[in-house]
Amino acid sequence: MPSLRKRLTEITSSAFEASGFDARYGDVIRSDRPDLGQFQCNGALAAAKTYKSNPRKIAESVAGHLRRETTLENVSIAGPGFINLSVTDRALTDQMAAMAADERLGADRVAAPQKIVVDYGGPNVAKPMHVGHLRAAIIGESIKRIARFLGHDVLGDVHLGDWGLQMGMLITEVQRRQPDLAYFDVDFTGPALEDSPVSMSDLEEMYPAASARAQEDPAAMEAARRATFELQQGRPGYRALWSHFHDVSIAGLKADYAQLGVEFDLWLGESDTQDRLPSLIERLRSEGHARQSEGALVMDVALPEDKADIPPLMLLKSDGAVLYGTTDLATIAQRMDELHADSLIYVVDNRQADHFRQVFRGARKSGIAPASVSLEHAGFGTMNGKDGKPFKTRAGGVMKLKDLMELVTERAAERMAEVGMVKDYPEEESSQIARMVGLATLKYADLMNHRTKDYVFDLDRFSSFEGRTGPYLLYTAVRTKSILRKAEERGLQSGDILPAASGLERDVMLKLTELPDALELAFAGRAPNHLCEYGYALATAFNRFYHEHHVLREEDAARQASWIALSELFLRALCLTLELLGIEVPERM
Ligand code: ARG
Repeated sequence: MPSLRKRLTEITSSAFEASGFDARYGDVIRSDRPDLGQFQCNGALAAAKTYKSNPRKIAESVAGHLRRETTLENVSIAGPGFINLSVTDRALTDQMAAMAADERLGADRVAAPQKIVVDYGGPNVAKPMHVGHLRAAIIGESIKRIARFLGHDVLGDVHLGDWGLQMGMLITEVQRRQPDLAYFDVDFTGPALEDSPVSMSDLEEMYPAASARAQEDPAAMEAARRATFELQQGRPGYRALWSHFHDVSIAGLKADYAQLGVEFDLWLGESDTQDRLPSLIERLRSEGHARQSEGALVMDVALPEDKADIPPLMLLKSDGAVLYGTTDLATIAQRMDELHADSLIYVVDNRQADHFRQVFRGARKSGIAPASVSLEHAGFGTMNGKDGKPFKTRAGGVMKLKDLMELVTERAAERMAEVGMVKDYPEEESSQIARMVGLATLKYADLMNHRTKDYVFDLDRFSSFEGRTGPYLLYTAVRTKSILRKAEERGLQSGDILPAASGLERDVMLKLTELPDALELAFAGRAPNHLCEYGYALATAFNRFYHEHHVLREEDAARQASWIALSELFLRALCLTLELLGIEVPERM
């Protein structure tokens, strides 16, 4: 079913047509002057320009038609020609009943579902995940959930960084430490060891050491490059060692993502393109897309209309190794051939904008991605500390995901203790709840601003149970659950939703009708912040209502049953909103 706003747009568009104007002027939005009406249409002003006529006159004519609509009331004109309108309480309760009866709460599925791959996460094998990967995970997960809810066929891919120079650095580092390992024998043919010669914590410690050594010592860097090239060429001992790195890392990463409540459908990575790399490069060469430049193989992607200089995309280094852009190009080919994707959405740091511009252009130019396929970099800004610099540990180091999780969980527990929540709960349950509240703090804070913006992670503010915060929304949902549980214990049932008893109740209903619009906006802009804002406005409207109207103490049984039904509908809408943000709601707190 269309949202209420859309239905009103249809009605108003017809009224414009009936008055002799184009239907496209009939767009209706929620009013920013609730004292004048619930909704408004500003189309008469634009129409007046096109038709060289008086806006007020156009508005009068359109309003004349609108006044005949039985679902509308208080159709009025303000200022130079703004049309204000409200719906009757009857129309509003009909809308509530329809939403309540619909398992999708009135949100339509898209008419033409697409096959979408969301590329988010992007952690690198053998390096621990840090807060830099956190935003990708949180934003990508939400975009994936929203797209899926709207009816698209969506796959989330973690796209591991597992084929670059860091692999060669690690191989040479292991060789330095365990030179006798059979894997370093050039003639190694197997079998591979059952157990990995390195653990996740070994890798975490080895990578920074190896990287530092390579930066300082040109010979070490050369060895790492060489090992990377040989790995990519398929040297068996290196491949076997690489498999250990890969498996050990994936186990750690899966645990981290599970903690975050982030789930990938595909655990593919750069290395999964290795079989198609030689033929891809051959093809680019033979079709004249690639050229040799100072020993390297590059592809020109600049266009005549470019204002700034767009450097060529590097395909092969002079030592023959492939690069980040090469595997990304091959991954596009893979997503076309194997997944038949219509749309690729990359949720990756803004700082990689140039990289994606080059890769996308390369994919278009070579025909890897036909024009019908959409390629999109949904970039995001940096999560900063209060000092305005990228969020760090107290000691000034890069904050690991695990540390951050601990930080937010601890703060959540403190806050709950302050306000007397989860008192006398079993230990295990209260720590579970603290984890959920901590995650809600983190995710809501991250999603609340438009993704392209940098933001300051202010734990004191974001962990509060008041204001625009995850904990506020969670608390509101949990309290509503508890009200409904109490109602059930007392044998109270929900009934028909009656016309609103007050402006506060009407506001809740009107907010509920906006859910499909918020969803659509969020998906269109790859911008979960619209859902954050919606959830906050909805929760606030409900809290105001609940403050004035005592659902459990109401004496009129029909009124009480109606309020219970409204509370149920509110809870469903809020929980859906939170779910699409990737935020889990406890049963009680
Ligand atoms: N591994 C990369 C990094 O840590 C991110 C990968 C993003 N996805 C992609 N297809 N390039 O910066």
